[in-house]
Parts: sequence; C-alpha cells; structure tokens
Amino acid sequence: MFQRWFAKPPGTFNHSFADGLQVQVAPVTPAHAPRFEAGYQRLSEQSRRMRFFGQVSNLSSRQLEFLTRPDGRLHIAYAALDVGAPQEPGIGVGRCIRLDRDSRIAEVALTILDDYQGRGVGLLLHATLHRAAYAVGLQQFLYDVAAENERFIRHLLALGARQVSRDRDVVRLMLPVLGRGDAVSARTAPALRLRRLLDAVAAAEPARPLS
Ligand SMILES: CC(C)(COP(=O)(O)OP(=O)(O)OC[C@H]1O[C@@H](n2cnc3c(N)ncnc32)[C@H](O)[C@@H]1OP(=O)(O)O)[C@@H](O)C(=O)NCCC(=O)NCCS
Repeated sequence: MFQRWFAKPPGTFNHSFADGLQVQVAPVTPAHAPRFEAGYQRLSEQSRRMRFFGQVSNLSSRQLEFLTRPDGRLHIAYAALDVGAPQEPGIGVGRCIRLDRDSRIAEVALTILDDYQGRGVGLLLHATLHRAAYAVGLQQFLYDVAAENERFIRHLLALGARQVSRDRDVVRLMLPVLGRGDAVSARTAPALRLRRLLDAVAAAEPARPLS
C-alpha cells in the first residue's frame, strides 16, 4: 500500500468543541453495525434525501456490511460518537471511496444525525477524511451534492472546492486532498476552521475506544 511516510491515517481520538460537546472519532469497524442501524432510523427524511438522494427506509444487510467494512485504502470511513452519551447510536459518519482501484480520486459522503447538525462535527469528520486520504496517497476529493443542498455547496466552495458540473439534481465539486492545515489556501471562515481541525487531527493523541 502506498503510504506517505510522514503521515499516518488517524486512529481513534477524542475532540472537544467549545460548546462542551465531546466527540470520539474512530475508524469504522463491523462492531459499529448496530449503531448504523439505529442511527439510520433517526435520520430525518430530509437528511436521507440529501445524503442518499432517493429515500431508503431501511439499510439492507448487504448495505450494512459494505458500510461497516472499509478497508482503509479503497474505502475509508470514520464514525463520530458522543463521549457524553456512549450508549446513543452516535453522531455521524464520514467516508470516501476511490473511483476505482488505482484512482487518486475518491468520492466523499458525510452524514450527521439531525440533532447534532451545525455543531462542527461534520467538518471534524471531513478533516479526518482529508488526513486519512492524504496518508494513503489520494489527491482529489469529489462531492456529488443534491442541488437543493445550497448551504453545503456554498460551504464546499468556501473551503476552496470548484464546481465541475451541475444538472437538475446534482452538483459535482472537487477539492484537492488536504493533508495538513497549511495546505488550506482559501481564507474564508470555514477554511480557517478546517485548517485548525486538520492540525488538531494530525496532533491528536490516541484514545481508548468507547466500543
Ligand atoms: C451536511 C452535513 C454533513 C454537515 O455536517 P454538520 O456537522 O451539520 O456541519 P458543521 O457544523 O460541521 O458545518 C459545516 C457545514 O455544514 C452545513 N450545515 C450545517 N448544519 C447544517 C444543517 N442543519 N443542514 C444542512 N447543512 C448544514 C453548512 O454548510 C456548514 O457550513 P457553514 O458553517 O460554512 O455554513 C450535515 O448537516 C448532514 O449530514 N446533512 C444531511 C446529509 C447531507 O446533506 N450530506 C452532505 C452530502 S455529502
């Protein structure tokens, strides 16, 4: 596996937000499957539509198996759990999947449960994915975002992404994989937040997994 010698993919670590929320970020494993099932049930219709485009009422066992068995190279996935409520399903998940085996481009998907949206966890998972992808030699992230999700599209543009196509339903954007805070060239407020989070992820101490 091609791995940048100076960057290791993040392991399990904890992160505290200014509002008091304590989050554990961990590589997804099959042990997370019950959390995925429970979390999916809690996702609002709107969030499901934004993330999965069509509506899926339940995850099939095949989907669940796929979502919880990332290999760390073709498919990278991290879960965010609430340290203050470890029995709850969790907060969200971020993943990226290479377009094909040898590609340096991966498609990103982020999902945060509705109760936790807007508190910074999506950007933390996003920073974690950048760091992990950088460590395994990925160069570009691709995002297919529902055209109605204007807020998130604006956010990606503010991070420095460029729009590469748009049809009625989907806007496609691309952003170079950012391994470190100083690689962030945009100077918007979200980009500066990403910069700080990338540095925090790179410097994070390993934590004992919640489960
Ligand atoms: C989009 C999403 C992943 C962002 O995660 P989050 O933890 O809520 O976001 P953060 O607090 O880290 O903020 C990052 C950006 O997310 C967007 N965001 C935040 N809260 C949001 C909400 N309630 N609804 C939609 N977008 C939201 C904003 O664009 C925000 O950027 P800004 O502060 O520059 O405006 C999350 O809201 C979500 O899962 N939404 C449903 C699924 C989805 O839209 N996925 C994106 C397609 S890959």
